[in-house]
Amino acid sequence: MGKVEEDPPYVQFMDSYLPWHGHVTALSVAPQYRRLGLAKELTQALERGCEEQNAWFVDLFVREGNDTATGLYRGMGYVQRSGGLMQLSENCKKILLTTK
Ligand SMILES: CC(C)(COP(=O)(O)OP(=O)(O)OC[C@H]1O[C@@H](n2cnc3c(N)ncnc32)[C@H](O)[C@@H]1OP(=O)(O)O)[C@@H](O)C(=O)NCCC(=O)NCCS
Repeated sequence: MGKVEEDPPYVQFMDSYLPWHGHVTALSVAPQYRRLGLAKELTQALERGCEEQNAWFVDLFVREGNDTATGLYRGMGYVQRSGGLMQLSENCKKILLTTK
């Protein structure tokens, strides 16, 4: 499940403000269907949708220690970031944020 979203205008001058961007809300593949490329395909479909919607970037959260998900997203070009998302460069359009 994913979406394209933007923080409301009244927080746009705050450091934490997130402009129009894609977000992977939840991704889970049933155990018997894993390693078939489904997660990658679904994530790429979301990325295409975000591109069509002119989203600035795509971000997602991965729980600390979830090496499978971290490996999946790193392999897809996601780069680990924390805070300061407004200082995005052109080559940082895929952001992986880790949570406890
Ligand atoms: C993480 C998850 C969504 C991956 O789904 P998937 O459909 O099996 O992943 P894919 O088949 O698309 O894998 C793509 C790539 O990710 C990496 N990867 C996926 N599963 C992996 C595993 N168990 N071990 C190592 N690498 C793995 C591989 O690089 C893989 O490419 P390859 O098969 O060509 O080597 C699935 O394991 C899952 O549902 N886990 C539980 C829920 C979860 O953690 N969701 C993510 C929350 S952010």
